[in-house]
Amino acid sequence: MIKKCLFPAAGYGTRFLPATKATPKEMLPVLTKPLIQYGVEEAVEAGLHTMAIITGRGKRAIEDHFDISYELEHQIKGTSKEPLLDEIRSLIGQCTFSYTRQLEMKGLGHAILTGETLIGNEPFAVILADDLCTNDHSPMANNELPITDAKGILSQMIEVYEKYQCSIVAIEEVPMDQTHKYGVIAGKPVDNTTDIFRVTDMVEKPEPKDAPTNMAIIGRYILTPDIFDILRGIQPGKGGEIQITDALLEQAKQGKVIAYKFKGQRFDCGSVDGFVEATNYFYTRSVQK
Ligand code: G1P
Repeated sequence: MIKKCLFPAAGYGTRFLPATKATPKEMLPVLTKPLIQYGVEEAVEAGLHTMAIITGRGKRAIEDHFDISYELEHQIKGTSKEPLLDEIRSLIGQCTFSYTRQLEMKGLGHAILTGETLIGNEPFAVILADDLCTNDHSPMANNELPITDAKGILSQMIEVYEKYQCSIVAIEEVPMDQTHKYGVIAGKPVDNTTDIFRVTDMVEKPEPKDAPTNMAIIGRYILTPDIFDILRGIQPGKGGEIQITDALLEQAKQGKVIAYKFKGQRFDCGSVDGFVEATNYFYTRSVQK
């Protein structure tokens, strides 16, 4: 059973400078909620209550966010503002949070390896908070309400994990000229499905001419704990960094990685365009409710 969710959150967020000079990028809000809170909510919806967060220098606001703020609570107690804290209070009440610092930025694979001390020897989920996902699976058109009967992305992935018992990556098709932004997979459909693939190849951020397909990994993973030994053994890859994609390729060679085309939408909130798109989307949805 999967109980823990790892959040790599040590990166500098340079694409959002100067906003991220003293504020963690994971704390940038879409409407009134910071990105990382959306991630924690998705994990809780999937039944995970143990959050393991990889932080770094300048990231203390994340710890304070998932804590009680006595002074603030005292100030607004009994006022009309008090309900504004209800959601985060309830969330904090349902989870435990532990933190460890990544001392040097040596890539996503290195960040995940840093989390071994918090995860131990069990399968776990990974959420990259700047990929903001929603389970709404019909884009809003003609002011219609989106369909929200699907489960969250991580919940869907856990169902896939329960069936295949190996590492799972979430994928979506991207325009071919965008492959250089993602880990890209090749795979064969399994069990006559159209959304589940046994991965045969993975490449980190290939140029379109080198990309095996247009199926891109987005920031949701379920990893089996043997990934830590693999990460310890691999050489730096793309950009001189330890890449999770390279470690997963080792598992894939043994047929132990499934790619899952999730139902829902994902916004790349690591880019200004994606962030604005997410903000518009969630705003439109909030005024429709
Ligand atoms: C990371 C991974 C990449 C994946 C992406 C999803 O890249 O290295 O394989 O496709 O997350 O968001 P990053 O966005 O951190 O550069």
